[in-house]
Amino acid sequence: MSGRFIVLDGADGCGKSTQARLLADMLVDRGLSVLLTREPGATSVGRQIRRMLLDPATGDLHPMAEAMLFCADRVQHVCEVLRPALERGQVVVCDRYASSTAVYQGYAAGLGWSTMHQLNDMATGGLQPDLLIVLDTPGPHAARTQQYASPDPNGRGGPDRIEQNAETYHRRVRLGFIQYARMLGDRAVVVDGTHSIEQVHAEILTHVERVLQR
Ligand code: TYD
Repeated sequence: MSGRFIVLDGADGCGKSTQARLLADMLVDRGLSVLLTREPGATSVGRQIRRMLLDPATGDLHPMAEAMLFCADRVQHVCEVLRPALERGQVVVCDRYASSTAVYQGYAAGLGWSTMHQLNDMATGGLQPDLLIVLDTPGPHAARTQQYASPDPNGRGGPDRIEQNAETYHRRVRLGFIQYARMLGDRAVVVDGTHSIEQVHAEILTHVERVLQR
């Protein structure tokens, strides 16, 4: 596969979607062929799965059912979107991937790393990012909760089903991402997301350059 696969991930509200967009725009400006995509919900069936997973009306789901639904979305994403784009030689910038299932369902919800590695492996057919960028910010979830308390300029409603989890769950998510990144060695970096949007973008770019030059 000739393209490059870059994943941005992190706890809710860490700013990764903004950074994914900025990164993709920057790479396009450089004349690269770029695909910006996300999980869950980048395919037609994925959008239905996303609705089910995030709608508070769905209520309680067993973490394994949750993990399998995220992975079902991932199977379609890998087959329909990711592999074809990488085969075309595109640079793929993906907002969340297998790392999210490993951390949210595997670590924070307690299913365990190795079970989630197995499940992710089946879902992805072994497709791993060239680089995982974890954005780390203290209490990103708390910041988002505050944001819901004030009028919402982006038209977002209240917290989704996953965001409604207890604060302790979200603290575990943050810790889980750091641990997961460590397990990946030099295929992952943790970027301090507390700096300005421009500074974080610049740091992300330095890591991405490394991958593009390989
Ligand atoms: P989304 O709105 O896409 O993310 P964000 O809130 O960061 O913009 O919502 C996806 C939610 O689903 C988010 O809370 C993380 C969670 N999630 C998992 O629990 N497991 C997964 O495998 C994935 C991909 C996401």
